[in-house]
Amino acid sequence: MQDAESANDTILASSTEADLDAIEAIERLSFPVPWARAAFADELARPWARLEILRHGPNGRVVAFCNYWLVADELHILNVAVHPEERRRGHAARLLRHILDEATRGKARVLSLEVRVSNHAAAALYRKFGFREVGVRPRYYANDGEDALLMDLELPV
Ligand SMILES: CC(C)(COP(=O)(O)OP(=O)(O)OC[C@H]1O[C@@H](n2cnc3c(N)ncnc32)[C@H](O)[C@@H]1OP(=O)(O)O)[C@@H](O)C(=O)NCCC(=O)NCCS
Repeated sequence: MQDAESANDTILASSTEADLDAIEAIERLSFPVPWARAAFADELARPWARLEILRHGPNGRVVAFCNYWLVADELHILNVAVHPEERRRGHAARLLRHILDEATRGKARVLSLEVRVSNHAAAALYRKFGFREVGVRPRYYANDGEDALLMDLELPV
């Protein structure tokens, strides 16, 4: 998939060990309880996991990443994050379009995710792509007991 999709000066690619510093930095700037670098290294080793990056600009800086699992007929999104300086420029939408394409290619029937109930930006992003709210997991986030909103998107057979 490396460099397979590019538009203007933005390139979407599979990540490698060399991208983990950039991924970890974006993660830390994006979440109250960021994943550790080792968790992303584990993702690189899982055959069913995808960890992909968006490079943008003349220096090809990593500005965003996504992490999802394709297992049987389900695609589960674990993580989508954009560097704070690069938000509201369509990077997450680009990643979501790609994830939907991969779901179709992988013959997934449903996409699913959890998001903090307070994360209105992310919920709006997912709603824009057709995800519906299908439930709540009470006190899902261990650090502060916040509920998770469950969202899913069924793909046509
Ligand atoms: C949520 C997040 C990924 C959006 O990334 P982004 O690149 O800024 O999003 P885009 O520019 O592609 O926006 C796509 C759509 O998302 C929604 N959206 C994005 N940011 C939003 C905000 N701050 N408020 C409301 N809606 C927002 C809008 O519907 C937007 O479409 P529009 O531009 O036509 O209004 C980004 O804010 C982020 O990294 N947040 C921290 C990490 C996180 O919460 N990840 C999601 C949980 S897995």
